[in-house]
Amino acid sequence: MIYLDNGATTFPKPEIVYHAVDEFARYNGVNAGRGAYKAAREANAMIKKVKNMLLSLIDAREQAEIAFTPSVTIALNMVINGLDYESGDVVYVSPYEHNAVLRPLHLLVKRRGIKVVELPLKDDLSIDLEHTAVMFQNEHPKLVCMTAVSNVTGYVLPAGEVFTMAKEYGAFTLLDGAQAVGLLKINFAKTKADALAFAGHKTLYAPFGIAGLYIKNGVDLAEFIVGGNGIKAENPAMPSYIPAKLESGSMDCVAIAGLAASLDWLKGVNPWQQEEGLTSYLLGRLSTVPDIIIYKAPDGAGNQAGVVSINIKGFRANEVAAILDYKYDIAVRAGHHCAGRIHHHLNNKAYDGTIRISFGMFNTRRDIDKLIDALKQIDRKILKNIDDEIIRGNC
Ligand code: ALA
Repeated sequence: MIYLDNGATTFPKPEIVYHAVDEFARYNGVNAGRGAYKAAREANAMIKKVKNMLLSLIDAREQAEIAFTPSVTIALNMVINGLDYESGDVVYVSPYEHNAVLRPLHLLVKRRGIKVVELPLKDDLSIDLEHTAVMFQNEHPKLVCMTAVSNVTGYVLPAGEVFTMAKEYGAFTLLDGAQAVGLLKINFAKTKADALAFAGHKTLYAPFGIAGLYIKNGVDLAEFIVGGNGIKAENPAMPSYIPAKLESGSMDCVAIAGLAASLDWLKGVNPWQQEEGLTSYLLGRLSTVPDIIIYKAPDGAGNQAGVVSINIKGFRANEVAAILDYKYDIAVRAGHHCAGRIHHHLNNKAYDGTIRISFGMFNTRRDIDKLIDALKQIDRKILKNIDDEIIRGNC
């Protein structure tokens, strides 16, 4: 398989991640925070060590706490549901947001009467900063949510600029770093984020099961998911401080052991450089494919991560993905990528979304050459061999 769906999850993982997972599961696989015996203490120490590594990764030591969660969706839900809203409060979102942000907000529109407003875009689909400033002035933000990198076009959004404006009104700022932490060179202070969510299994090259939040010191969030965490167990209430008030249930220590290994590995590689090289090669080669439509980040230095979407005229996005899989063993994601709003702006209704190509550290130019050859040979006749359900796709 040629795997070009690293936006969904990076695959494969570095070899040392598999080793660390196996070793922890086999020899240290006890529960952290539940006992005072040696193995449990070691699991606790590992969690602390990994949190420190994550803080160092984006220069956030002394500035933030890490709260671990089982997935980035849960992390984003915790922030969005951890704030105190009044009816009519305005929450701004970029049009590039994922359903992990949009759906919790949609519930709050219904349950709490908040209002969700989209940040404006320019013609090139970059965030219109001037217009944003006017909108914030007219309707002050309570919360501003932005993804750091679009999972559809690879656009690196100007979150720091938007959050700086939002802070003039005392807004809470939430940065979704699912496609970014480990890839972008992030300095936590410069993001102006109160909370930054990360996913272990994507740009951090760890296994599924570990994600979380960087939460700026001094920022408070109400508890959302509560339960046991081994701290003051006789008290029916959660501990009152962050991160303990946000962490309940057994942590996936096996995944955290994998994250420790991937964070070590990331110190010796440069994913941004790798993705940048592959993406510019891809864009050059895509322009030779007949009937292609390319959806990429707006032009600008540092604007484009290793995610690009395309369509082929005359085909639905899922049809092309099904052919690539069936005939060429090339794995790409097609559809709306759980980020529904941006597709209105990409104007791709006739295609039912896009075909997404997303890179990781283990892709090569040869993968791209094979993709280009396949795209040049896409033939509708192949569809008759493929199950309807697969051709329809699921999103
Ligand atoms: N959010 C993930 C993606 O972009 C699953 O594919």
